[in-house]
Amino acid sequence: MKIIVVDNYEELSRTAAEMVAEVVESNPCATLGLATGSTPIGCYEMLAEFCKDKKLSFKNVSAVNLDEYVGLDKKNEQSYAYFMRRELFDRVDIDKNNTHIPNGKASNLLDECSRYSKLLNDTDRDVQILGLGSNGHIGFNEPNTPFDSLTHVVDLAESTIRDNSRLFYDGEQVPRQAITMGIAEIMQAKRVIMLASGLNKAQAVKRMTQGEVSNDCPASILQRHPDCTVIVDKDAASLLKK
Ligand code: F6R
Repeated sequence: MKIIVVDNYEELSRTAAEMVAEVVESNPCATLGLATGSTPIGCYEMLAEFCKDKKLSFKNVSAVNLDEYVGLDKKNEQSYAYFMRRELFDRVDIDKNNTHIPNGKASNLLDECSRYSKLLNDTDRDVQILGLGSNGHIGFNEPNTPFDSLTHVVDLAESTIRDNSRLFYDGEQVPRQAITMGIAEIMQAKRVIMLASGLNKAQAVKRMTQGEVSNDCPASILQRHPDCTVIVDKDAASLLKK
């Protein structure tokens, strides 16, 4: 695990965007594993800038996302499908037919999980972007999820519902369930870039990078990934032992 500590969120976003750009430059048909949430927004913004300036093209790139809320249609502004279009897909030249996200409105959620697992299994992911839950989750794999989990429906932890309520107009509307890529599938990506920013992530960053590998902190499994880079700003790194 390589840890890069940067001064601030802007630098974190630039560093991550440059790494993703390198992946796409070296393989224009790359498959990117993408995350939602507030942390990668700056990175997506910079990737959109690179594309606008014709420095980068996503024309032949594919994308697979980590997760989606159960019960939200892709047209719902709070859905992760909508988020991805707003923050990235509508701003770059990606073919939207090559973008994938679990369907939170599927009539049979178990079938949807199997379909998504198969898609992941059939796709080589060049890089997986991750954010970090303040409770150590990755994707929506909450504490105590087995490390060998595949795509599944999850009951969100109260802390996750609380953390995410800031993004909803009314805290009561935060969905209680999501479909998430499993930990085993996250680990299958050739490369992982984990982003964490802010003091509220400091404890989870310490646990992920310097604690024991244990499923009470799902992100700690990244210590065993052969090519994982953690990019953190000073606040998120503030509890790390030198
Ligand atoms: C999002 C996801 C989550 C977030 C995490 C951090 O697709 O899978 O694991 O990355 O909850 O969220 P933010 O970045 O909003 O702090």
